Amino acid sequence: MPALGRPPSPRKIVKTGTFLLSRGYYTRDPHNPMRILALLPLIAAASVLAADAPKSSADREKAWKADIFPILEKSCIGCHGKDPAKKPKGGLNLMTLDAATKGGKDAGAGFTWGDASKSSIYKGAELGIKDREDEAAMPPKKSKSEPLTAAQLAKLKAFIEAK
Ligand code: HEC
Repeated sequence: MPALGRPPSPRKIVKTGTFLLSRGYYTRDPHNPMRILALLPLIAAASVLAADAPKSSADREKAWKADIFPILEKSCIGCHGKDPAKKPKGGLNLMTLDAATKGGKDAGAGFTWGDASKSSIYKGAELGIKDREDEAAMPPKKSKSEPLTAAQLAKLKAFIEAK
């Protein structure tokens, strides 16, 4: 059986769509029913993006490296594993996906796939934004590290709950 090729990347689809739009392939006349065609690249890109969500552990590892670790690197790892000579706080090491998934000493699994509300890393980061006074808020209120932004928190949730 011939192998199926990889689907085009979302960026490529959007680029092609934008190119066609710029060349006037899609009409801008609001009364022309062909105008709907202009939406096709967006719909296609959305479905490819959905299909790209991490579901296998290889996909997860990739997303961890590209999107998630850089977020935690900025706000968290100073206390959670950056210096191998120091014990990570709360026993939680965020330097690798495996260690992060396992979690720390008291708060349970770092990541419970499919459920951010049962993932200690998500819960700590969420409190870090929504309730700075809570003693479980991460980074802790006293620290100089920046809490996640709402967009970063949403990314973290999508990473945990991707199907
Ligand atoms: C300035 C240091 C510091 C930073 C930065 C920091 N933490 Fe922590 N974290 C701690 C300390 C200290 C504890 C342990 C609290 C305790 O044991 O009572 C802890 C504990 C935790 C725990 C609980 C571990 C367990 O199972 O007991 C989680 C989850 C956590 N941190 C996540 C994060 C996340 C996510 C970030 C980044 C958004 C972060 N931390 C940033 C100091 C920090």
